[in-house]
Amino acid sequence: MSANPELGVCYYPEHWPEELWVSDAQNMIKNGIKWVRIAEFAWSKIEPDPGIFDWNWLDKIVDILGNSGLKIVMCTPTATPPKWLVDQMPDMVALDKNGQARKFGSRRHYSFSHQGYQKESQRITQAVAERYGQNKFVQAWQTDNEYGCHETTYSWCMSSLSEFRVWLKKKYKNIDELNKSWGNVFWSMEYRSFEEIDLPNLTVTEANPSHNFDFRKFSSDQVKNFNSQQVEIINQNSPGRPVSHNYMGHFVEFDHREVSKNLDIVAWNSYPLGNLQNMQIIAREDKQLINDCYNIGDPDFQSYHHDLYRGMGRLWIMEQQPGPVNWAKYNPVPVDGAVRMWTWEAFAHDAEVVSYFRWRQAPFAQEQMHSALMLRDNTPAVGSLEALQVSKEIQMIELPATQKSEVALLHDYEACWITELDGQTEDFHYTRLMLDFYKSVRVNGGSLDIIGKNDDFNGYKLIIIPSFAHLDANIFKKISTSGAKILAGPRTGIKTVNFQIPENLSLEGLGYQVTRVDALPYALPIEVEWKGKKGQLRVWREHGNSSGISEGNSKDGFPVITSGNQGSYLCGWPDENLLRAIMGEQMISAGLKPVTLPEYLRVRQRGNLLFFTNYGKETIEIPDFFRGEIIMGSKNMKQADVTILKLEN
Ligand code: GAL
Repeated sequence: MSANPELGVCYYPEHWPEELWVSDAQNMIKNGIKWVRIAEFAWSKIEPDPGIFDWNWLDKIVDILGNSGLKIVMCTPTATPPKWLVDQMPDMVALDKNGQARKFGSRRHYSFSHQGYQKESQRITQAVAERYGQNKFVQAWQTDNEYGCHETTYSWCMSSLSEFRVWLKKKYKNIDELNKSWGNVFWSMEYRSFEEIDLPNLTVTEANPSHNFDFRKFSSDQVKNFNSQQVEIINQNSPGRPVSHNYMGHFVEFDHREVSKNLDIVAWNSYPLGNLQNMQIIAREDKQLINDCYNIGDPDFQSYHHDLYRGMGRLWIMEQQPGPVNWAKYNPVPVDGAVRMWTWEAFAHDAEVVSYFRWRQAPFAQEQMHSALMLRDNTPAVGSLEALQVSKEIQMIELPATQKSEVALLHDYEACWITELDGQTEDFHYTRLMLDFYKSVRVNGGSLDIIGKNDDFNGYKLIIIPSFAHLDANIFKKISTSGAKILAGPRTGIKTVNFQIPENLSLEGLGYQVTRVDALPYALPIEVEWKGKKGQLRVWREHGNSSGISEGNSKDGFPVITSGNQGSYLCGWPDENLLRAIMGEQMISAGLKPVTLPEYLRVRQRGNLLFFTNYGKETIEIPDFFRGEIIMGSKNMKQADVTILKLEN
């Protein structure tokens, strides 16, 4: 995409008196806003009584916004079904793992599997899409809001149960196949028919992991199905206008790649400070980072998600943190310039639109303490000044199309679920591991693509597989014949696709056969030495037989890395510094030129432009290694600065 990116905002006209609407629209325009997202929680206003629609207010605001020059993202309001609907079919709410109903009074109170609710969701989608599908001001759509938020992917209700049985029958055809695949002979768990199968909750001790694994895949398919029902209706009524959904950061409960197959725009909601506080996955030296970056965010978390989601479709940031939020453990004020820097960072990663959440701070209900572009009294908040600055800056710089990166990181939702279901150490966290590997390339100055198992592996110099438990031989063959150098991380190839241990224990070609796993608390690492460098393997350490070249050693007698005829394998989870050093060497041997960046400086290449961001408190200088003309910012960067450098040809 080479057209210049745009700014947007999330707006809730239903919260405000009509007298404000015209001036709101005008002020948005003055603030450089081009897109406005509306109506994702407005069902009770659109249909106050069953079958009685009130379109007046929505028609009016669509006209006002559109006539002011704003493009509208219209949403389906299915994340907040109204009270009358829940009363009509009380069993539409999800049940939690203990079988307790998740009641009306906030949002997302529905089960994806409830067929009655699916029909209602289609009915309201049809009504909204029919009314606005051809409206010239409605230029894009959003389905629902943040699928899965507040732990709503899984429901342990009767609708889930009956749909799960149907899903299993379709997958296994006969019950013997299921029994075999799950290994139900273990503990006499065999079933005689699909009707005997229950959901994997409330068992005495853990349920069979294969049972759980299938329930996760099923639940993910339910999200996909729910979304595709809406997309189909929107496409019929509003052909040619892109459909989006807004995902979250650090959220893996359903397979986003699958859901995205039905979307044009893959959006996510970026809350750097909230995510940093809530992302303390394991007690680790990140405490330093959390202190250093408490008011600016993790230097890699945002870009990791930009790279993850841009691999699934056209990237938008549907909700961008504009100031302090209200929902994290701690909710600090962002450092001056952070909102601008986050916005530019998204554009550096190909975002077409960054849309701030929200226009004006809500004076009532759950999110009163969440900031917005405007204060309650309608005067601009700090974030709006930074947004305005970006809106001017983006007009001055032509952004080139992005190119394929030289490094790819393989990511897989099912692999993540396996690591959760087969935990062994509660400190193993898939996203944390991915982020560590991702960081290790970035601190060496690299830009990455994050890809899935069905993507094209050709054209990369280095493919990193941080962990992929059930990577099968066919996919591995495609990767290993792509011509890229391969670095696989712990737990790769140690399961079959059916969640069993493979006959030959692990993938061949990486020089290691895993025989035992030392699953550790984060606080008890294994000391290792690799090429004269001391370091640690933490959380996960694999014992095994090396059949290739081994590097590094430790007291436990096993190597740090092995290499076979198809790639290299890390036999544990290295600490940050060790991983950085190992990755630097892997990059060199893949023909790349790593460069050591100052601790909190990051760079991302888009076409012939390099975008630098400084997440650190100290002023730093861009290393001389990078040569070209600075077209925005300067070589010396203060915290939250952005510098754009045009590379010499
Ligand atoms: C998002 C959500 C919004 C709002 C926001 C507050 O998760 O989509 O509706 O709640 O968080 O930060």
